[in-house]
Amino acid sequence: MREQVLVPPDSACETDVGLMTVPLSQERAFPTWQRDIPREYFQLDAAALRERIAAARRTLGDRCVVLGHHYQREDIIQFADVRGDSLKLAQWAAAQPQAEDIVFCGVHFMAEAADILTPPHRAVILPNLAAGCSMADMAATRDVESAWEELVEAGIGGVVPVTYINSAASLKAFVGRHDGSVCTSTNAAKVLRWASERGERVFFFPDQHLGRNTAHAMGIPLDQMVVWDYTLPFGSLGGLTLEQLERARVILWKGYCSVHGRFTVEQVRQARARHPGVRVVVHPECELEVVQAADAYGSTELIARYVHEAPAGSVIGVGTEINLVSRLAHENPDKTVFCLDPVVCPCSTMYRIHPAYLAWVLEELVRGNAVNRIIVPEETAHWARVALERMLASA
Ligand code: 13P
Ligand code: SF4
Repeated sequence: MREQVLVPPDSACETDVGLMTVPLSQERAFPTWQRDIPREYFQLDAAALRERIAAARRTLGDRCVVLGHHYQREDIIQFADVRGDSLKLAQWAAAQPQAEDIVFCGVHFMAEAADILTPPHRAVILPNLAAGCSMADMAATRDVESAWEELVEAGIGGVVPVTYINSAASLKAFVGRHDGSVCTSTNAAKVLRWASERGERVFFFPDQHLGRNTAHAMGIPLDQMVVWDYTLPFGSLGGLTLEQLERARVILWKGYCSVHGRFTVEQVRQARARHPGVRVVVHPECELEVVQAADAYGSTELIARYVHEAPAGSVIGVGTEINLVSRLAHENPDKTVFCLDPVVCPCSTMYRIHPAYLAWVLEELVRGNAVNRIIVPEETAHWARVALERMLASA
């Protein structure tokens, strides 16, 4: 399904209106459409938007809380009551019994997880429903179900499914139904260990790099990991032989993040050549060779802590999304903090949370309307909750 929605262009101009066709995944929680944002919002300049967002927040008071992922742009993150990585934001949502509505400044799967973990009377709002995650979209639940069926037919047993939180609620539900768990970049090692103790092999969705990096750090040899190519037709066993699958301890789905796929070993080498003594920290969605060339790796929260805790005068090359890297550079003027990738690349879907959308959903909340509410259907939510709670219990 494709739908025309109004989104701001990815350029720096904050008042222009861009009209873009955005593919809407079949996997997403309903509604998969959004009401058109009134054009007046894109005619407001940055200062006017800031003022209207602040005014709506004052009126709403405790009735609404704004969560912001570390990759959100500056003109959004300044309004977040809580900022964090995927785990911190999911834990926060799960721990709040009060009845405020949540405006989630992040991407679709994060808002879905918050909806699943909070009571039904609490609205979770994603300011722009077109803010998805291209990696999550690489693991369509029907493709995963087909792959599972192929494994069963081939007699490959003892498979425990684990999905990265960057996945649709329906995939989390699949994993919950099949005795598996969700993980995030923070707790992937704990969850993978948990899964390895329960079966002969783990089927890891959708990010092959997080799966490989984590399994490799646990001591699982690379020749016991295989990649399932979901683009091949049913019956191809994901491009693998029966022998490869029988030997495998980890089956990695062939998904990846295009933002983190930009980081290379050559960039790390150049950073070290240009800045002797530089420390390099990267996200585990980067390729294994990049993670191995770095001094440290971990979630966005870990990267932020790593930079904040480094001694004054440190030089730090960072391999993650540019909004976070720029913020860390700004917040640490006593250190040199730079992005390893000279071609600065934001996560274009995170970037779709434009202040115009935030102003719109907050002003609608003031009028008593929850626009762009994420509601995961109860049957899906039930099983996805099972998989998320397994993760939260082991985190
Ligand atoms: P974190 O959980 O580390 O914040 O990662 C989320 C993400 O989408 C990274 O690309
Ligand atoms: Fe998805 Fe990559 Fe963006 Fe993270 S940075 S939200 S994995 S596309």
